[in-house]
Amino acid sequence: MPTTDGLEDVVASHSRICDLDGKLGKLSYFGVDIHDLARYSSFEETAYLLWNGTLPTRSQLDDMEAQLCANRALPGPVSKLMRLLPTTSTPMDVLRTTVSSLSSFDPDAGDNSSAANHHRAIRLTSMLGTIVTAWDRIRNGKEPVAPLTYGNYATNFLYMLTGELPDAYKARMLDVILILHADHELNASTFAARVTAGTLASMYAAITSAIGALSGPLHGGANEQVMRMLLRIGEVDRAEAYIADAIERKERIMGFGHRVYRTEDPRATHLRAMSRELGERTGQSKWYEISHIVEDQIKEHKGLNANVDFYSASVYYMMGIPIDMDTPIFACSRVTGWTAHVLEQYANNRLIRPRAEYVGPKNVEYMLIDQRG
Ligand code: COA
Repeated sequence: MPTTDGLEDVVASHSRICDLDGKLGKLSYFGVDIHDLARYSSFEETAYLLWNGTLPTRSQLDDMEAQLCANRALPGPVSKLMRLLPTTSTPMDVLRTTVSSLSSFDPDAGDNSSAANHHRAIRLTSMLGTIVTAWDRIRNGKEPVAPLTYGNYATNFLYMLTGELPDAYKARMLDVILILHADHELNASTFAARVTAGTLASMYAAITSAIGALSGPLHGGANEQVMRMLLRIGEVDRAEAYIADAIERKERIMGFGHRVYRTEDPRATHLRAMSRELGERTGQSKWYEISHIVEDQIKEHKGLNANVDFYSASVYYMMGIPIDMDTPIFACSRVTGWTAHVLEQYANNRLIRPRAEYVGPKNVEYMLIDQRG
C-alpha cells in the first residue's frame, strides 16, 4: 500500500467546485477564472456561484443578497454566550465555540434536506461576520454594533467592526479579499469539513471542524504571523538582514510556500497589487516595500513563492484591521467554500476513512502493572 505523509498529491474525492492547477498557477470556481471574479464580481455573487454552480441572474443575485442581509443578527442567547468567554480568548477560538453553539438555535433543526442545508450555508456565512466583529467590540469593552439591514457583506462587516460606514474604496478592497479567499479545493480546513460531513454529521459540526483546522499557523493562521514578522522588521532598510538571519536560523517564513502551487499563487498577484495601492493611498507604503524585499529574498534564497497570506497581511493592517482578526476574516470568506463542499459531500456521500501504515512496535507482551519497572 503506497504511503504519503500529509496526503501530498493524493486525490481524495471528485469535486466540481474548485479547479486548481498548481503548475500553471490557475484557479477557478465552477470554471470561472479567479482573476475575472476579482475584477468584476462581488463576494455575494461568488458565494452564489459556489453554492449553485452557475453565476446568478440579476434577480437571483438580488434574492441572495436579501437572504444574506436577513440572516445577520445572532440569536440572543448566542450573543450572551459570547459575553461569558474571557476577553483574552483568541478570535478564532471564540469563532469556533460560537459557531458550534449556533446549531442549538437552528430554526430547521433535524431537517437535513438540501434546501435546509442551502439555507444553513447562507445563515452561517452571514452570522460569521457578526460573530467576528461583535467579539472585537466585546473584548474591547464596547457594545456590538447591530448589523445593517442593507448593504453588502464587506460594507456591513466594516460597519459592525468600527460603528462607522466605510468608504466605498475600503469596502471594495475587503470585497475583493473575500472573493479571493472563498474557496481553494481540498485545503486542510475544507478537507476537515468534508471528513466531518462524510459521517453525516451536521453542517454546523463540519464548519466547526473547519474553523479549528484553519486557525493553525501552517494554514489560515499564517497571515497573522506574517504581519507580526513585518512589524518586527519595522523598517525597509532592516528587511534584507532580517531575512538573511531567518534563513540562517532555518526559520519557516510565514506566507511562503504551498503544498500545491509551484508558481505564483494567482491570489497573491491581486493582493500584492492591493498592498502597493493601499500603501500609496494611505501613506503607509513601507509595509508594501518591506514585504516586497522579503518576497525577493525568499524567492532568491529559498525558491519559494508568496502565498495568499503574505500580502493580505499588510492589506488588512493598512485597512486598520486588528492583526488577530486576519484569520477570522479568512474564515468569513472561506465559509462559503466550506459549505459548498459540505453540500457536495452530502449530495454524493461516502465515509472518508483512509488508512495508516503501522510503524509501531509489534507483539509487545502485556506486563501486569506491578511488574513494570
Ligand atoms: N519557509 C521556509 N522554508 C519553507 C517554507 C517556508 N515558509 N515552506 C516550505 N519550506 C521548505 C521546508 O523547510 C522544506 O525544506 P526541506 O525539504 O529542506 O526540509 C520544503 O520547503 C518543503 O516544505 P514542507 O513543509 O514539506 O511543505 P508542505 O507542502 O508540507 O507545506 C506549507 C506547505 C504551506 C505548510 C509550508 O510551505 C509552510 O509552512 N508555509 C508557511 C506557512 C504558510 O504560509 N501557510 C499558509 C499556506 S496558504
